[in-house]
Amino acid sequence: TYVVTDACIKCKYTDCVEVCPVDCFYEGETMLVINPSECIDCGVCEPECPAEAILPDTEDGLEKWLELNTKYSAEWPNITSQKDPPADADEHKGEEGKFEKYFT
Ligand code: SF4
Ligand code: F3S
Repeated sequence: TYVVTDACIKCKYTDCVEVCPVDCFYEGETMLVINPSECIDCGVCEPECPAEAILPDTEDGLEKWLELNTKYSAEWPNITSQKDPPADADEHKGEEGKFEKYFT
């Protein structure tokens, strides 16, 4: 599966949602997550994210994000079409420590 990481926090560009063939993105207050049991591993969303927030879970050190995506995709609503990002999205692109600072 692919997973959304903390680089999405406060950015939420939602380009990913537009290209996913199985609509497996779920939206929280500060970020989106992928439902790992619905993701078909097609990889199309990865290069579409301007914040480079999406990675395959085969990369090292992504266990935390796999867990978070699994947990919250079961709680948050499905999002199936692109919407405007927050007005200050570009200011938060590439910022460090976003999970600790902003995640809700
Ligand atoms: Fe959707 Fe494919 Fe991305 Fe999985 S890898 S979330 S199926 S676009
Ligand atoms: Fe987030 Fe990137 Fe999608 S910032 S909403 S994972 S396009």
